[in-house]
Amino acid sequence: MALYTETVMDHFMNPRNVGEMENPDGVGEVGNAKCGDIMKMYLKIENNVITDVKFETFGCGSAIASSSVATEMIKGKTVEEALAVTNKQVVEALGGLPAHKLHCSVLAEESIKSAVKDYYDKNGIEYDHSLFPDCESCEACRMV
Ligand code: FES
Repeated sequence: MALYTETVMDHFMNPRNVGEMENPDGVGEVGNAKCGDIMKMYLKIENNVITDVKFETFGCGSAIASSSVATEMIKGKTVEEALAVTNKQVVEALGGLPAHKLHCSVLAEESIKSAVKDYYDKNGIEYDHSLFPDCESCEACRMV
């Protein structure tokens, strides 16, 4: 069996929604301290719905594919629906990732959360802080 699924290769070779966004409503940037990869997610939000998403990922192919598929998963969704996206769902949408690459999908989940948090903060929207665990409690680095 090939190491990467066709879906992973497709999103890696033809990433969707890639690039910078002007005047985003929320921006999130996360990184993995171990591998050094960085993912930035931009959101345009109208009436609590994510109307546009863009990403920039400096990282491995799995991280690029994860961020690409994640943008498709949250476009047109409510902010709450986007917050509920897990790295497991990102992996499922890609048809799987090799075990040693699962941590790359964590960056996608975290970058969405980080961008939503930025949106909440900028707009003075109250939120449950436990939805956004800090670095200390994050599993990403330990998963590398
Ligand atoms: Fe760092 Fe994939 S190796 S995110």
